Amino acid sequence: MSTSAAERSLVLIKPDAVRRGLVGEILGRFERKGLVIEEMVLRTMDAELADQHYAEHVDKAFYPPLKDFMTGGPLVAVVISGDEAIDVVRAMIGATDGRKAAAGTLRGDLSLSNRENLVHASDSPDSAKRELALWFPHL
Ligand code: TYD
Ligand code: MG
Repeated sequence: MSTSAAERSLVLIKPDAVRRGLVGEILGRFERKGLVIEEMVLRTMDAELADQHYAEHVDKAFYPPLKDFMTGGPLVAVVISGDEAIDVVRAMIGATDGRKAAAGTLRGDLSLSNRENLVHASDSPDSAKRELALWFPHL
């Protein structure tokens, strides 16, 4: 018998995806998989939230241009839930670099960039808890 574990993940549909008109495509893939959209908001990240959200990356060389990109236009923040949602969503978005991400994944099919890669998703139960508290503090 397989086990079942309902989880929540924090997904950001990044400014490149909003700009390119890919919000519906991306949400549709998650919906068709059977995952559930629990909460959703269009919001522009400010510098403080960017530094908190990307705390593990703030000292890295790629962070300044990443911060400019992530704060440069509206994004869609989504709480997605389902059985093993954290790992399932990570598998669906694919590897970080869109040029290397496997075909069939969101980044593999729709991004050619290592920075403008369309989607963020929590990578572990601990990061999901931390990120959900940042973006949806009432949950
Ligand atoms: P990371 O957490 O390594 O990737 P992921 O989003 O797959 O969890 O990095 C966070 C974001 O930082 C990534 O989505 C895009 C950006 N980034 C760069 O711009 N350059 C880089 O070399 C890396 C590794 C990431
Ligand atoms: Mg990451």
